[in-house]
Amino acid sequence: MDKSQRIVIVGAGVFGLSTALSLAQDGYHSITVLDRSMPPVPDGSSNDISRVIRFDYGDKVYAQLGKEAFDLWNTEEYAASFHPTPCVWTAETTSRPGGHGTAIVAKDKLKGGSDFIRKSQAILDELQLKWHPLRDVDALKERFPAVQGRPIGAGFEGFYNEAAGWADAGVAIAGLRDRCIAAGVAFVTGPHGQVSGLEHGETSTSTSTTQKKITALRTADGGRITGDRFILATGAWTASLIPSWNHMVATAQIVGFVRLTPAELEALKDLPIIFNLSTGFFSFPPHPDAGYLKVACHSFGYTLSSSSPSSSSSGGGVSSPPARPIPARANFIPQEGEQRLLAGLREILPDLAARGFEKTCLCWYNETPTGDFVFDYHPDYENLFVATGGTGHAFKFLPVIGKYIAGAFQRKLSPELTAKWKFHTEYREQAREDIFTGDSSRKGGDGSRGGPARRELTAQERDTLLSLTDALATRQARI
Ligand SMILES: Cc1cc2nc3c(=O)[nH]c(=O)nc-3n(C[C@H](O)[C@H](O)[C@H](O)COP(=O)(O)OP(=O)(O)OC[C@H]3O[C@@H](n4cnc5c(N)ncnc54)[C@H](O)[C@@H]3O)c2cc1C
Ligand SMILES: *[C@@H]1O[C@H](CO)[C@@H](O)[C@H](O)[C@H]1NC(C)=O
Repeated sequence: MDKSQRIVIVGAGVFGLSTALSLAQDGYHSITVLDRSMPPVPDGSSNDISRVIRFDYGDKVYAQLGKEAFDLWNTEEYAASFHPTPCVWTAETTSRPGGHGTAIVAKDKLKGGSDFIRKSQAILDELQLKWHPLRDVDALKERFPAVQGRPIGAGFEGFYNEAAGWADAGVAIAGLRDRCIAAGVAFVTGPHGQVSGLEHGETSTSTSTTQKKITALRTADGGRITGDRFILATGAWTASLIPSWNHMVATAQIVGFVRLTPAELEALKDLPIIFNLSTGFFSFPPHPDAGYLKVACHSFGYTLSSSSPSSSSSGGGVSSPPARPIPARANFIPQEGEQRLLAGLREILPDLAARGFEKTCLCWYNETPTGDFVFDYHPDYENLFVATGGTGHAFKFLPVIGKYIAGAFQRKLSPELTAKWKFHTEYREQAREDIFTGDSSRKGGDGSRGGPARRELTAQERDTLLSLTDALATRQARI
């Protein structure tokens, strides 16, 4: 591929920035990254006080990729953002090996969790990587005395991996941005960098399918940015910008922050990362500088659709996060979501659950049917490459993923990876409900989700979120 071509990357999250750096290192010398805000983008999915770094996966490709990334997180280069911490996986099984004690929760709800645990253990074994069984809750509390509650579950199943940790996502992204700048990548942000539409030229006749060629991107300030090849790495906003062929859906996930005292920060510093696969709940050790303990749910989430919320249970139109740039995420999650976060916290840290959250927020996943990323050319445009579909698990790959995206962009990946990260066109004719079943384990995904089925935000939740977001956006615009 001609390395002097003008490459325009939209989106400065983990996918966009890692691609920019990788291409710059490969010798491409005209790379421009556009975004609504300067990275770390306040409401971008790649920005928060923490993200889990692990290679426990029910899928061998991501396990290997996770290990490759983990080894780099452990080097000097990422020392400012990476905090090694064991990662615990627990789930309720329906019955104990002894045969007694049947859980109250429906079996199909739990299957994903146990599946994930067993598949992950088998893959770790196959890759000759270590993990430690947790036979019961006492074993959990003995190994991790900072766990205070009495999480019982009807049949406890679990293991942990010492080789894991969490990264301060904002710090890691700022580091990646600076490396891009040093490598000669140009940035355009704010209204000049916010893409409002695509301009295309004549339809190409060289292929059997009709493909258009993008000539320029239109921006929110009325400008035009021209280029030779365009890479869309716009995360959860992607389906609002280009035809998604029913390949992705943006879902909002719940996060809560508990304020800790200095004494609590110290007392809880050895808390592991804990995933409860039965509910999707997961928690981090305290962030020493931010002074927060963060909890979240890896669940099926909420949609925010472009059409009226009442038109369909999964939303009639395209789901997308609000478009206007904001200086911070709105302090809002649905009430029932807050209850779920508190219930999860109560299992492991009952005293903190009583205190409640200082703030909560929604953070967006761009989901694909199988949980696989999409690194491929768009079926409608010959020079538009798409790097998206993080599906709630992409951050950990920050040190390595750019190499794979750049490989796909130059059509140099192995056939196996090319197929795994393909832009699928066959979903277009299928009903969205049948593709995004809300159960990734049934679709070849890794079955790591838990919690209630995906739903559209109610009209009232939508109004609250949008009015808080608008107030924040207006405040930002005045600065
Ligand atoms: C609550 C939560 C918890 C998570 N936990 C983990 C975890 O523990 N471990 C892990 O590995 N992963 C985790 N993830 C997933 C991970 O954060 C995402 O998969 C990853 O950050 C996605 O990166 P991205 O580059 O695709 O998207 P983003 O970071 O969202 O980047 C997209 C960018 O595109 C920009 N953009 C959008 N539209 C436009 C436009 N029109 N013009 C210009 N710019 C535009 C946006 O401003 C944004 O900066 C989590 C995600 C969430 C939401
Ligand atoms: C996981 O969730 C289940 C269901 O709410 C609960 O019974 C169990 O105690 C939880 N486990 C942990 C470790 O929090």
